[in-house]
Order: sequence, then structure tokens, then C-alpha cells
Amino acid sequence: MKHKSILKFILFAFICAFMAASCTKEGPQGANGENGVNGENGVNGINGINGTDGTPGVDGNMSCLVCHTKAGMDALNGLYAYSGHNAAAYVSYAGGRGGCSPCHSNELFLNSLSQAPGVATIDIDYPTKISCSTCHANHQSLEDDIPAPLTLSDAVVSIADGTILDFKGPSNLCATCHQSRRDKSYYPKSEAKTFKRTFTKTADIASYTHAAVGPAGYVQLNATEDTLTVVFDVPTTHVYISSTHAGPHHGPQANTLLGYGGYGTTSKGTHASVGCTGCHMGTVEGTTGGHSFNPSLVNCNTCHSGATDFDINGKRTEFNTRMAAIQAALEEAGALHDGHPMYSSVTMAEFQAFWNFMMLYEDHSHGVHNPPYFETLLTEAETALGL
Ligand code: HEC
Ligand code: HEC
Ligand code: HEC
Ligand code: HEC
Ligand code: HEC
Ligand code: HEC
Repeated sequence: MKHKSILKFILFAFICAFMAASCTKEGPQGANGENGVNGENGVNGINGINGTDGTPGVDGNMSCLVCHTKAGMDALNGLYAYSGHNAAAYVSYAGGRGGCSPCHSNELFLNSLSQAPGVATIDIDYPTKISCSTCHANHQSLEDDIPAPLTLSDAVVSIADGTILDFKGPSNLCATCHQSRRDKSYYPKSEAKTFKRTFTKTADIASYTHAAVGPAGYVQLNATEDTLTVVFDVPTTHVYISSTHAGPHHGPQANTLLGYGGYGTTSKGTHASVGCTGCHMGTVEGTTGGHSFNPSLVNCNTCHSGATDFDINGKRTEFNTRMAAIQAALEEAGALHDGHPMYSSVTMAEFQAFWNFMMLYEDHSHGVHNPPYFETLLTEAETALGL
């Protein structure tokens, strides 16, 4: 018994010592107490003073109907029927050719806008004429003050010589297509050359008998008189007119308006500030103005008050008379036939006259687009031809 009590005591003492050692550590945290009872709601504050009313916005429908009424669209479509774009006489002639149709078809124009400058455009099979979507894109936004959405209105890089053509606005759209395709520097060459061509058409045989062939050039009709051989001698003092389509090509209006591209001092006239759209669209009168793209006399009257036709101060009549004299001299020199270029070897002076004539002829405004500059081009041509 004594032994058992001693053992129990030792065991008890041992447990106590162990517990004393472990009791120095903290016990685990108790559970959170319960949430208190919610307080009572506060008293409501006094209402603020009302703000002043905003200015009323433009009526949503009204801003769209500036352009989108049925009557307006019908009138516009009616006018478009009078446009050269709609007549599109040359769509099939220019065809789907990659070199022609960026200006002559809807498809390749839009395609060319998305390509880097200078990238050749591919040929297509079914070109269609210039239509609403050639010039008009989708709206970028439908907010107030929406302008008519255009496919292009940024400045244009000249195809002929890289000059920036900029009418600052929608007329840049026109300039994309209505610009020269060749610069005059394409033609003069710095080395002497000889070219030989054979003509078999009766009309060609008749006209090339009088061609300008250069100092040592000659014309030879074969024995049966159905073939004409022409040798064009082109020393460095001469220029070879190398195609019956030579010149700045059709529609150099952007260049003539901005007053450069011919032989003679560059000069930008007041008309450039009007832009193409200022004369060719603007106010509608009969079958002119607006989407007929035919110039309207009412547009001229803003500056030329009282003018009753485009022949202001007789300048168009004067222009046509001087052009006829230049044409006659160039036909005499063998550079033109019936107003069209001939293959020929002409002197540098004759070439300058030829180039200016082609530029003024292809411009098609009969002297209106840039009267001060045209005066320079006519005078240069007359001087070169000794007129
Ligand atoms: C300044 C003239 C103008 C105003 C204002 C105008 N539009 Fe247009 N809208 C056009 C022209 C131009 C086109 C292109 C027409 C075409 O290609 O047949 C066009 C095309 C559209 C088209 C079809 C092409 C597209 O972008 O999807 C819709 C839809 C349209 N407009 C809606 C509106 C609405 C809605 C408003 C008013 C919030 C409005 N337009 C205001 C000129 C205008
Ligand atoms: C996509 C190219 C392109 C654009 C953009 C363009 N035109 Fe034309 N334009 C032509 C072609 C090509 C013709 C000749 C159409 C034909 O006879 O086949 C033409 C014809 C014309 C004619 C009639 C010429 C005639 O001999 O009867 C006028 C005027 C004219 N354009 C003015 C403009 C104006 C102004 C703009 C800008 C608002 C403009 N064009 C934009 C390519 C274009
Ligand atoms: C940079 C744009 C452009 C290119 C490229 C172009 N044309 Fe044109 N072409 C025009 C414009 C603009 C007119 C309308 C000019 C005018 O009426 O004054 C036109 C007019 C014409 C005419 C009518 C000429 C006249 O005296 O009425 C013919 C034909 C023609 N182009 C053929 C072609 C052929 C073929 C090609 C390709 C080898 C071609 N064009 C490439 C812009 C271009
Ligand atoms: C040769 C390019 C060209 C063609 C094709 C063309 N437009 Fe336009 N359109 C313009 C230009 C440029 C403006 C004037 C933009 C400006 O001044 O902000 C304009 C303006 C408009 C406007 C605004 C209201 C007005 O009369 O000025 C409407 C609507 C419009 N065009 C619809 C059409 C429709 C529909 C067609 C097809 C029948 C069409 N356009 C064909 C170039 C074109
Ligand atoms: C100062 C007004 C004015 C400006 C600006 C103007 N034109 Fe003309 N344009 C005319 C007149 C006037 C004619 C001659 C129309 C006639 O004889 O029926 C003409 C003729 C034309 C023709 C030949 C039309 C035909 O029936 O043979 C084309 C194409 C042309 N302009 C395009 C343009 C282009 C593109 C621009 C801008 C680069 C432009 N014009 C700027 C007034 C202007
Ligand atoms: C923004 C005003 C303005 C508009 C619009 C305008 N012209 Fe002119 N025009 C002039 C000025 C200014 C001159 C003098 C030459 C210059 O400053 O470039 C001129 C000169 C002329 C000349 C030569 C006159 C002379 O005696 O030498 C003719 C022709 C002409 N304009 C025809 C037209 C025709 C046609 C239209 C309409 C299709 C037209 N102009 C629209 C301002 C304008």
C-alpha cells in the first residue's frame, strides 16, 4: 500500500510537472460574440436647389433629314442622270484594266484607296461605272453636324510627279481622278536615238507623209503604195513624241487649277480657292450644279456678278481663237493631226508648244479653270512657234 501511494504520488507529481510546462502557451481564440442591435434611422436632409435647364439638343430626325428626305434624294438622283460620271461613255473602253480603271470604275477606285501609293492595280472582269458608293463611304458617326460621308477628302499625291495636290476638302476627291498622268519630263531624252515605224492604214499613210521626222529622218512609200516606212531621227536638240496619246492625258484639271505642269511660270489663280465643287456642284440651276457636276452660272455670279455665260470678258472666245492658231502651227510642224498627237521628232521649242497645247486642250474648260496661268501657257506656246 505504501508503495502504491508513493507510485501514485510520483505519477501525480510527474503529470503536474508536465502540465506546468505546457500551460505557459496561450489557448485557442474563442468564437466571435453576436452582432449588436441596429441603431435608429437618422432624420432626412433638406432637398438641394434645382440646376438650370440645359440648351435643347438638335432634333434627331431633323439633322438626318437635311440630306435624307425622299424628295431631296429623288432630286439628287435626277441631277446625277446629267453627269458625265453617269453617262460613263468610256467605262467599257477603259475596261477593267488595272492601269485605267482606278479612275474609270467604282470597283478599282475603291480598291486603289486601300492600297499603298504606287502599287499596281490588278485587272478585273466586270467594272461598273462611278456611282454613289464610289464617292460616298458609310457615316463614321451619326452625331450632330454630320457631313456627307466621303471616301476621300485628304490631300492627293500627284501620279505624274509626286507633288501634293491639296484643295483642302471634298475637291481632293475629284483631284484623285482628274489629274495628269504624265509629267513633261517623261519625254525629253538626253541621248540621240532613231526610231522606225511602219504604217499600213490608208489614213495613216496620208498623214505620216507629212510627219516631223527630225534632221536626218525620212519617209518611204513602198512600190505598191500600201506601206509607209518612217524613220524618226531624234538628236539631243529634239524630242520624240512616242505615242498618239502623248501629253498629260485626259483630265489634268487638278494640275491646271493649281497652276503647274506646263512650260511657263507656275501660278495658282483665285479659282483654285473655289475648289472643283464650288463651281461644279454648289447651287443647282436646271441641269447644272449639285450632283450634275456641270458648272452652274449661279456659282460664278457670287464673284462675277451679272455674268450671263462662262465667256466672262470674252476670255473664252479669245482662248479658243489662240488655241486654234497654235493647233494649226503644230499640224503644220507635223506634231499633230486633226488635233491629236502624231509620232514625231520635233524641236524642243515645238515640243514645249505641243505640251502646253495638250495640257490646255485636255483641261476641257476652254480657258476658265486658271485664266492667269493659261495666259502664260498660251504666250509660251505662241513664242515657241513664232506666232
Ligand atoms: C450632310 C448630309 C447627311 C446627313 C446630315 C446625314 N446623312 Fe446619312 N448619308 C449621307 C450620304 C451622302 C450617304 C451615302 C449615300 C449613298 O452612298 O447612297 C449616307 C448614307 C447613310 C446610310 C447608309 C450607309 C451607312 O452609313 O450605313 C444611313 C443608314 C444613313 N446615312 C443614316 C443617317 C442618319 C440616321 C442620319 C442622322 C443622324 C444621317 N444619315 C444624316 C448624307 C447624310
Ligand atoms: C473615280 C474617279 C473620279 C472621281 C472621284 C471624280 N471624277 Fe469626274 N470623271 C471621271 C471620269 C473617268 C470621267 C469621264 C467619264 C466618262 O465619260 O466615261 C469624269 C467626268 C467628269 C465630268 C464630265 C466631263 C465631260 O467630258 O462631260 C465632270 C464635269 C467631272 N467629272 C467633274 C468631277 C468633279 C467636280 C468631281 C469631284 C466632286 C469628280 N469629277 C470626281 C472620274 C472621276
Ligand atoms: C488618274 C485617273 C485616270 C486614269 C488612270 C485613266 N483615266 Fe481616262 N479619264 C480620266 C478622267 C478624269 C477623264 C475625264 C476627263 C475630262 O472629261 O476632262 C478621262 C477620260 C478618258 C477618255 C475620254 C477622253 C475625251 O477626250 O473625252 C478616254 C478615252 C479615256 N479616259 C481612256 C483611258 C484609258 C484607256 C486609260 C488607261 C490606259 C485611262 N483612261 C486611264 C481619268 C483617268
Ligand atoms: C463624283 C463624286 C460623287 C458622286 C458620284 C456622288 N456624290 Fe454625293 N456628294 C459628293 C460631294 C463632293 C458632296 C459634297 C460634300 C461636301 O461639300 O461636304 C456630296 C454631297 C452629297 C449629299 C449631301 C447633300 C448635298 O446635296 O450636298 C448627299 C445626300 C449625297 N451626296 C448623296 C449622293 C447620292 C445618293 C449619290 C448617287 C446618286 C451621290 N451622292 C453621288 C460627291 C459625289
Ligand atoms: C471657277 C470655276 C471652276 C472651277 C474652280 C473648276 N471648274 Fe471645271 N469647269 C468650269 C467651267 C466653266 C467649265 C466649262 C464647262 C462648259 O464648257 O460647259 C469647266 C469644265 C470642266 C470639265 C470638262 C467638262 C466638259 O463638259 O467637257 C471638267 C472635267 C472639269 N471642269 C473638272 C474640274 C475639276 C476636277 C476641278 C477641280 C480640280 C474643276 N473643274 C474646277 C468651271 C470650274
Ligand atoms: C471666288 C470668286 C470666283 C468665282 C466663284 C469664280 N471666279 Fe472667275 N475669277 C475670279 C477672279 C478673282 C478672277 C481674276 C483672276 C484671278 O485672280 O485668278 C477671275 C477670272 C475669271 C476669268 C478671266 C476674266 C478676265 O477678264 O481675265 C474668267 C473667264 C472667269 N473668271 C470665269 C469664271 C466662271 C465661268 C466661273 C463659274 C463657273 C467663275 N469664274 C467663278 C473669281 C471667281
